[in-house]
Amino acid sequence: MSSEISPPSGDDAGTPSPADAAGEGTTHRDVVSFVRRGERLTPVRQSAWDRLSPAYVLDPPRGERDTLPAPGARLDLEEVFGRRAELVVEVGSGLGENLVAAALAHPERDHLGVEVYRPGLAQTLNRIDRAGRPGNIRLLPLDAQRALPALLPPASIAELWVFFADPWPKSRHHKRRLINPPFLEAVLPLLADGSRFRLATDWAQYAHHMRRLLDPSEDLVLLHPDGPRPEGTSSDRLPEGLATTGWAPRFEGRVKTSFEAKGIRAGRLIWDLAYARARRPATAPTERPPE
Ligand SMILES: C[S@@+](CC[C@H](N)C(=O)[O-])C[C@H]1O[C@@H](n2cnc3c(N)ncnc32)[C@H](O)[C@@H]1O
Repeated sequence: MSSEISPPSGDDAGTPSPADAAGEGTTHRDVVSFVRRGERLTPVRQSAWDRLSPAYVLDPPRGERDTLPAPGARLDLEEVFGRRAELVVEVGSGLGENLVAAALAHPERDHLGVEVYRPGLAQTLNRIDRAGRPGNIRLLPLDAQRALPALLPPASIAELWVFFADPWPKSRHHKRRLINPPFLEAVLPLLADGSRFRLATDWAQYAHHMRRLLDPSEDLVLLHPDGPRPEGTSSDRLPEGLATTGWAPRFEGRVKTSFEAKGIRAGRLIWDLAYARARRPATAPTERPPE
């Protein structure tokens, strides 16, 4: 698959994107980080969807859009997975390569893929089927930024992954990048103390943008402050001021997806980042007011 889930294109023809044309950017929070398109399923994916979605795709009550949870909706993780285990969340799980590989490699953990692209979800179900239907995966077909803080309790995530998020390279679209203050405000409270936040991108400009937002966060600690830049030259322009250190080695649990392969084919470098969630200060026990 070369670009089945096409990232928004880098060429600026001045034509409104389907989401812009649909007014999605103005009615569904100010902006969204995704474009809905090509929802039709191939027969193989349709079959996987029909057979596996009841067990694997979570279906919380929806709000004003099908990508939003209804007010008051919650996920009971113990009920969802039938146990209590460390939770790995991948936002934008795409075709499910990482999610399914991780679920097989770590049966002791639970894995939640958050993805709005239905063909990607269906392909993930197909992969789950071929992998022997592991029980430690579920898919959430909602906008992660709005759904995760509404549905999950604080400090419930042990690992948060965002790999090859849509780069939104045009400057007028930078506000649509997933890694932006609203997303961070939504997800950082969900990270357990000491948990990991892992990211990867093939766009140097986006890597720089991530570092500028994440490094100063008091909630996060850069895990590889001395880690060198990826070796080699890049076909995309390296932004001025791009950090020379602080880059993570490739996360061993990250498998090569079609998006990484496409970036490499285009001559771009792969930028990995890893942070730990800083420990929250111990809160003093609140004094009860006199009766
Ligand atoms: C470029 S693809 C990368 C997919 C996968 N991580 C990989 O490396 O192959 C980015 C994915 O993020 C999804 N996405 C973007 N914003 C999202 C959001 N707010 N909530 C859920 N999924 C989102 C898109 O639908 C798309 O499938």
